[in-house]
Amino acid sequence: MSALSQIESLIGEMTLPEKLGQLTMTAAGYAVTGPIIAGDSTEAIKAGTIGNLLNMVGAEHVHEMQRLAVEESRLHIPLLIGYDVVHGHRTVFPVPLAEAGLFDPRVWELTAREAATEAAADGIAMAFAPMLDVARDPRWGRGIEGPGEDPFVGARFAEAKVRGFQGRDLSAPDAIASVAKHYCAYGAVTAGRDYGSVDVSERALREIYLPPFEAAIAAGAVSVMPAFTDIAGVPMTANVRMLQGWLRERLKFSGVIVTDYNAIAELMRHGIAADLPEAAALALAAGVDIDMMSDAYRRGLPIALERGLVNIAQVDAAVRRVLALKLRLGLFADPYRRGATSETAVTLAARRRLAREVASRAIVMLTNPGDVLPLSAALNSLAVIGPLADSSIDMRGPWWGASAEVGHVTVLEGLRASLPGLSIQYSAGVAIDSVDVSGIDAAVDLCRTAQAVILCVGESAAMSGEAACRAHLDLPGRQRDLCEAVLKRAKSHRIPVIVVLFSGRPLIVPWLTEGADAVLAAWFLGSEAGNAVADIVTGRISPGGRTAVSWPRALGQVPIYFGDRPGGRPENPKDRYTSQYLDVPNSPQFPFGHGLTYGRFRLANLRVTPDRAGEGDTIEVRVDVANEGARSAEETVFLFSHDKVASVSRPVLELKGFAKIALAPSENGTVTMRLPAVALRFLGIDLEPVFEPGEVEILVGPCADRSQLLVATINLTP
Ligand code: BGC
Repeated sequence: MSALSQIESLIGEMTLPEKLGQLTMTAAGYAVTGPIIAGDSTEAIKAGTIGNLLNMVGAEHVHEMQRLAVEESRLHIPLLIGYDVVHGHRTVFPVPLAEAGLFDPRVWELTAREAATEAAADGIAMAFAPMLDVARDPRWGRGIEGPGEDPFVGARFAEAKVRGFQGRDLSAPDAIASVAKHYCAYGAVTAGRDYGSVDVSERALREIYLPPFEAAIAAGAVSVMPAFTDIAGVPMTANVRMLQGWLRERLKFSGVIVTDYNAIAELMRHGIAADLPEAAALALAAGVDIDMMSDAYRRGLPIALERGLVNIAQVDAAVRRVLALKLRLGLFADPYRRGATSETAVTLAARRRLAREVASRAIVMLTNPGDVLPLSAALNSLAVIGPLADSSIDMRGPWWGASAEVGHVTVLEGLRASLPGLSIQYSAGVAIDSVDVSGIDAAVDLCRTAQAVILCVGESAAMSGEAACRAHLDLPGRQRDLCEAVLKRAKSHRIPVIVVLFSGRPLIVPWLTEGADAVLAAWFLGSEAGNAVADIVTGRISPGGRTAVSWPRALGQVPIYFGDRPGGRPENPKDRYTSQYLDVPNSPQFPFGHGLTYGRFRLANLRVTPDRAGEGDTIEVRVDVANEGARSAEETVFLFSHDKVASVSRPVLELKGFAKIALAPSENGTVTMRLPAVALRFLGIDLEPVFEPGEVEILVGPCADRSQLLVATINLTP
């Protein structure tokens, strides 16, 4: 029987409760992000009235549940089991915001592939990832889960992650369905407050928030999760225009739309549904296939059907899509294939090595003015201070998958392992978020005998991610007191202080970045965090990570991003009546793309050919890069454009490409990037793409600070 007729014959046999079961996803006794609403699902699985589960791991448990579904239910339909595989599963990789800063699609894909392999070995067939929300407001805790502030990066990240999760053949035992989330503009919540309302222009939607989702779908993502939030009053879970119109009709997305946790029931809270049947009907009519954790389809749709709010053809269409996905995943052919083989110690060790490499490359060296890093090999004593120096659990970040609570290498452990000959003394000084300062003196005392201090401060892992917004972006608790005391004492002993800053967002701590001898932004680096930090401070690896978000100087600058429009009165400190603050410059403390290395790179000789290009042409952009430093390192080169005169005012910088080049000391190389001229189209006044003749600047350099960019001009021709 063909796949299609298999689905149709099943639908023909199904009762309404069985159909609604296929449209329901419920937690199987595990809760990761919310209360367990549904309780024990065993009987419902046997009755065929629950067809999908989340938050269940372990091949044994999963296979037992599958057995109930395929052997004991009337129609033998396998379950679809999903999990949040956001930055690793058993092995934790750096958080997505940190990984984005590698600007390396090969790595983005590889970590997703490895995470998928681990998750599949646990019986999981669907990852609620990648998270693709462009985020420009660091108050919002969820920026850490995604690729940062830029839609171009988001799109490249999306493609790589989808390829990584899904592999070449979705039915393979190590492939899992990828759910592009949270569709869309969730990152634009008012005042950076999670779950708040969103009100963005149609242009912002299309230029900023949609490109990563479009890229995910073009790369073959088989599922999409609407955001909890509304756009201008229309919640995404019931947003006909964005789900039916944009996703299904315009992008031709034929996959499964699965809601976020309890989102259908929350349509009542949004104030657009009076009761559960109404909420369920709104979601179904918008094209939502699977109801995660509201139990609104099972309880509400029978009544909605009676009331005539929806019809059975709409239910069938959703069931058809869910069954088609189960077929593509190979679940009908063999529901036990995921989790059939267990992983060997060799693959687990290889994955740890990958986690270490990625983590060390994700670290962003924010400052190192006196070249105190890498640490001198002559050093024989070190003080490791701070509440994040030896906190294994915090190294994992906010989405730890199914990893163990222990075994994630801390900075203290990493340094001890890397520098066995060194005397290393440790003191936490203070807790991350407490008012107790009684430990500061003892911590500061370590400066007496140490030759350098590694000061590990920042946020706990729980201070970013979902429901983790902050209105103050400085160091929590009394960590500032600790840092100031350490800096003062270290100065009097003339020993350097290297700060390792852990956080899920840029922290606004100019007093610290200016007062310390070097600062590493470590975000949350995962299972190999401490080894990665050790690799950087010892110089085994040259830092190469870049910040994928602009790093503000002051909270009042938020939201802050490089792709701003010029406005009619661009910033001019000599003219008060221009767009600026009285008290800080507009520029961030560290621009998007900033990140120092142990090399010293000079970019020169930008060539852009041809100098006239039509829409079908490819522009070649070449720049010479020289490493004038004393160490090998990798430079990241960004390619921006700026359309100077267009029918719609264009951002001062638009990212169009990036590339990396590794160079030994005194080595020269050339970076070549190919830019299809069609990528210089933009959305015209009517929001349709246009290719307008005229001058466009091509800017190339190490970050989004215009003063560091080389500029050439090309002419676009009709
Ligand atoms: C989050 C999603 C996640 C889901 C399932 C929700 O609270 O917003 O990102 O996939 O829970 O755990």
